[in-house]
Amino acid sequence: MRNDIVEAARYLCSASAVVCLTGAGVSAESGVPTFRDAQTGLWSRFDAEELASPQGFERDPGLVWRWYMGRLGQLEEAVPNPGHTALAQLEGICERFLLVTQNVDDLHEQAGSVDVIHLHGSLLDFRCVSCSAPHNLTEEQRRADSPPACGVCGDLVRPDVVWFGEGLPWEAVETAAEAAQACDLMLVVGTSGLVYPAAQLPLIAKQAGAKVIDVNPEPGPVSSIADLFLQGKSGEILPDLARAVADLQAGG
Ligand code: OAD
Repeated sequence: MRNDIVEAARYLCSASAVVCLTGAGVSAESGVPTFRDAQTGLWSRFDAEELASPQGFERDPGLVWRWYMGRLGQLEEAVPNPGHTALAQLEGICERFLLVTQNVDDLHEQAGSVDVIHLHGSLLDFRCVSCSAPHNLTEEQRRADSPPACGVCGDLVRPDVVWFGEGLPWEAVETAAEAAQACDLMLVVGTSGLVYPAAQLPLIAKQAGAKVIDVNPEPGPVSSIADLFLQGKSGEILPDLARAVADLQAGG
């Protein structure tokens, strides 16, 4: 076992409140594309302004709808990877473990994580663009070329994800920021750390005196402030980390 992973496990064992912030990288090994990785990232292949903004949806709702239905189909093929499973195990063995994710998939929940905050919404939920009434999609609507109409006000239905230029769900942000302020360890996994306010959370934790661990194949803004940078894929590092924590707790 790598020394830095054992060191990280010691941090986890001595922490009484852990917050874990995840990004697209944690789902990469499940086949869900990230956003900014060169060539494979969604924003290196698609135009975010066109597909993930209120203006883009207003201009061409059908195009946006078809793109999200494609992503939804891709997501339904995906299953949790060992990284997701390890985080669910850590929740079970750490005293307090809150998972805050920027991801719009439900792979953390599928892996068994219970205390999960979604900062950027969910690809599996839909709501009216005007009145925000929730909407359950039928199979036919999923296969349609354009979004269905809201059953309440008749305006268009949209994916319940946060688009560029939009605010985040305030309750989720507030809970995450409070937890970051109060935790004694923040575990950051698979995020470029470029999108705010999520990117602020490791800084809040660090400034409040918590230790920060970053798990990522590439260094970035989070690793530069981290106490420990576990370089590598989360699907490989996190299972070892969960095992090391369990061993330490068992007195090994
Ligand atoms: P990014 O695509 O910006 O970053 C993905 C990160 O995952 C990078 O730092 C990669 O190095 C890392 N990575 C790749 N493979 C990995 C692996 N196997 N294990 C661990 N890490 C790996 O994705 P996010 O940081 O999540 O917002 O992006 C933040 C937000 O930007 C997203 O939530 C989305 C996007 O626009 C909204 O949709 C609102």
